[in-house]
Amino acid sequence: MKYTVLVLLLFFLESQTQVLVTPRVQCRTKKCEGDNFCFQGYCTPCEGPRSLWMKRKPQWGTKVGEALNVPAYSNFGDLDVLDPNKDEYLLDSQINFGEEIYIGQKYQCVHYARRFWITNYNTTFGSVERAEQIFDLQEAYNFDIKQNISLKKFQNGGVEPPKVGDLLIWQKDEGEFPYGHVAVVISIEAESAYPHILIAEQNYDQAWDTRNFARALKITKGENREIIISNNRQTFPSKDDLKCRDDEIASHGVILGWVRLELQ
Ligand SMILES: *[C@@H]1O[C@H](CO)[C@@H](O)[C@H](O)[C@H]1NC(C)=O
Ligand SMILES: *[C@@H]1O[C@H](CO)[C@@H](O)[C@H](O)[C@H]1NC(C)=O
Repeated sequence: MKYTVLVLLLFFLESQTQVLVTPRVQCRTKKCEGDNFCFQGYCTPCEGPRSLWMKRKPQWGTKVGEALNVPAYSNFGDLDVLDPNKDEYLLDSQINFGEEIYIGQKYQCVHYARRFWITNYNTTFGSVERAEQIFDLQEAYNFDIKQNISLKKFQNGGVEPPKVGDLLIWQKDEGEFPYGHVAVVISIEAESAYPHILIAEQNYDQAWDTRNFARALKITKGENREIIISNNRQTFPSKDDLKCRDDEIASHGVILGWVRLELQ
């Protein structure tokens, strides 16, 4: 009994000294370093909000947001990527193109990107085994003119900024992106105090940051006006906790560039 009390006392002293020796870092004027975010004026570890998000991921098939009339759904827990029941087609009665159109497999990233182009541009792109291969496509098919249209590609780090509707393509890697990844650019704010693009996507964090966009990705500008987009959220003073959604592994994801469709 006495021993227990002693142990408890030691624990208590230990926690007290930790509080005393760890100075609280203020973040009213500067950003928090490392895996911390600014909360009520002080740098606070990201662990708290991150563990809440991990617990609250929406179930597979839940609508998580919508951009330019294209809803996105959670793909949480989907391990069976080869299930043919998840293939989705648009029926001719829905779109009036005179044919049935394959969108992709629910609710993969490619499924969202193709659906976005079909809905907004009446254009589809060919079959790909993984998202990264979209960067190698030469053309897309437009249902209005019933012809292929050449695609333009822009390397990340060049001077041409992305435009609304461009497909942002991630490189395949061994960590977070075994198939690469694709997202749709829905807004560009290259000149703001917090340069960023807004993207819409499926099968990344499963939950979107807001109902209107999935993530705001940081733009860094090079010495010669190069535009570099990284797989890191841009942080805004009022929403600094969002940076906690980016973990160490995800931060290494490489964005190859963007693919553009130019309709006449
Ligand atoms: C897409 O096709 C439909 C007809 O199926 C047409 O009404 C619409 O204007 C087209 N949209 C664009 C952006 O071309
Ligand atoms: C469009 O391009 C695809 C391959 O990129 C090709 O298979 C198809 O035949 C082409 N269609 C037309 C109408 O040119």
